[in-house]
Parts: sequence; C-alpha cells; structure tokens
Amino acid sequence: MPTYRYPRIHASEITPEEVWHGRRDWIKAAGAALTTGALGAWPQVGSAAGLAALPSTPNANYVVMDPSTPEKDVISYNNYYEFGMDKGDPFLYAKTLQTEPWALSVEGECAAPKTFGMDELLKLAPMEERVYRMRCVEGWSMVIPWIGYPLSALLKQVQPNGRAKFVEFVTAVQPKNMPGVSSRVLDWPYKEGLRLDEAMHPLTLLTMGLYGKVLPNQNGAPVRLVVPWKYGFKSAKSLVTIRLVEKQPVSSWGRSAPSEYGFYSNVNPEVSHPRWSQASERRIGEGSVFSPKRKTLMFNGYGSEVASLYQGMDLRKNF
Ligand code: MTE
Repeated sequence: MPTYRYPRIHASEITPEEVWHGRRDWIKAAGAALTTGALGAWPQVGSAAGLAALPSTPNANYVVMDPSTPEKDVISYNNYYEFGMDKGDPFLYAKTLQTEPWALSVEGECAAPKTFGMDELLKLAPMEERVYRMRCVEGWSMVIPWIGYPLSALLKQVQPNGRAKFVEFVTAVQPKNMPGVSSRVLDWPYKEGLRLDEAMHPLTLLTMGLYGKVLPNQNGAPVRLVVPWKYGFKSAKSLVTIRLVEKQPVSSWGRSAPSEYGFYSNVNPEVSHPRWSQASERRIGEGSVFSPKRKTLMFNGYGSEVASLYQGMDLRKNF
C-alpha cells in the first residue's frame, strides 16, 4: 500500500490515558443500565487501559489454536489510513475520532431500512467472542479475540429484497478529526463490498470489541466489519452505512488500483499481489523479524467453511 508520512508526535507528547478516556456516552448508558439491571451484563466503564469491558460468551466453534497476538500489538500496529499511513499512526492520532453519537444506517434493497444507534446494536444479538486469524495483504498476520455477532443478524432486521445481490460498506469521514482524509491517497469515504452470501456467512462478524473491551478507536470504533478469510482491507472500520445493492460495488482500493485489489480478495497463497508474494506471512508479536515466516493458508485457514461459496469460479481471475 502507498507510502505517505504525517508529521510525527514526539513520544513525550503522547498521553495514553487520553487515547482511551471518556469518549462514549453509550458506554456510560450501558454501564448505568447494568446497575439498574436493564440490559443484564452490559459494558462497565473501567479496565486496565480505560476502555469499557464488553461482556461476551466465547464461541468454541470459532477459536483458532494459535496463540493470540499480544493486545499491545493489536492496538498499536494498525492500518487506518484516515489517521495516517504508518502502522503506528492510528494509535497516535485516532483519539480524535468522534464516536458518539453514532448511527449506522442499513438501507438500499430491503423492505425495512433502518438507522441503528449504538445502544441498539449492542443489544441486537448475543455478543460472542471469536478468536480469528487475520491476514493483511502486506504480508503480516495476527490472531485476534474479537467481540461481536454475525452480520447476518443485522441484515435480517432490514429484510433484504430479491434485488439485493451485494452489500456495500461505507465508513466515517470526519475531516476535522482525521488528518489522513486531506490526502488523496484514497477516495474517501473508505468503502468496501461483499457478495450478499459472503455478508450473510456465519463467519462474517459485525464487531464491537476485542480483548474483552469495546473497540479502541484505532481498531475501528465503535463498530466495524471482520471477514477473516479475506485480506484485512475488506474488514472496513467505523461503519456508518451498510447498503444492499444490485450491482457489485467498487471499493476504495479497487478504485485506486484495480489491478492490485480485486473485489473478492480472498486470502490465496497461490495468487501473488503485484508487490507482495502471498505464500507466507509474518505473525506480529511472534519471534523476531528473523524468525521463519508461517505458510499462508488458502482462505486463511477457513476453506472448509467458505470454499463452497466460490465453487466453479476461477480464483486467479476473480482475485
Ligand atoms: N477501514 C478504514 N475505514 N480505513 C482503513 O484504512 N484499513 C484496512 C482495514 N479497514 C482500513 C479499514 C486494512 S488495510 C487492514 S489490514 C485492517 O483494517 C486492519 O485492521 P486492524 O488495524 O484492526 O488490525
């Protein structure tokens, strides 16, 4: 992905507590609801890093056996281009992301379009913890304990109609709060897309937390997509609109470099990106840069669950 640098803040100017503190009314509301018993076990303010806990039930069907990537790496080595191009930029700059109030509109080809507030999204379906393998097209990977529920639970609410064949995901643009959107590196807002059957697949997670807490801003607060069998860029952060559409949507990366970023972007060790072989990967937080790389798995290891979605398709052509 392109190289561009934002002015760096000196380490002494970083106040980590500020990164985390007091940013969510809905968390407080959920905490209050907890004390009044209105919501059962919902988030409480307060945890080691100052982010609210997000209770969930581990789903044993979705736990990869590799050790999870240390939390400190998951929250400080990120891609969120609205906040800069360096892996450390989102951790430094995403504290300005305005996450409340937040609304997610689900619209387009459906019988019952609706805008959901965060409080509603948090209650829509049981929160699960799922430990997914994540693979970035740049050649690194992580194992992350996400918290969320299948996107299908949300999509069913709006009753997709017969013309809905694809789903477009549109993310937040906050020019005053996002230093990166003044650059032309991508056509903002950051957009992604899935086929409807991919979006309805049980692995596709509408995600609101990680490591037992609500999402840090740099990981896509307050609500993002996680699609573990595809390269990381498909997992759009800070969603504001989910649109059911008839035609295949154009993603931001697909628009900027169609020969590099295909619509499907399934993890495939046999099909190289023009700039990166996809045969192997470096697991962040594991060993050192000199440690041997891991072999990348077809569909990132989720082939038994998703290969049937692509039966009969030429995956070199449909990369
Ligand atoms: N979503 C938005 N809105 N903006 C982005 O720049 N980057 C993508 C994806 N979602 C991105 C985004 C890329 S390239 C990757 S690899 C993953 O987020 C990284 O997610 P993580 O930082 O939580 O690991």
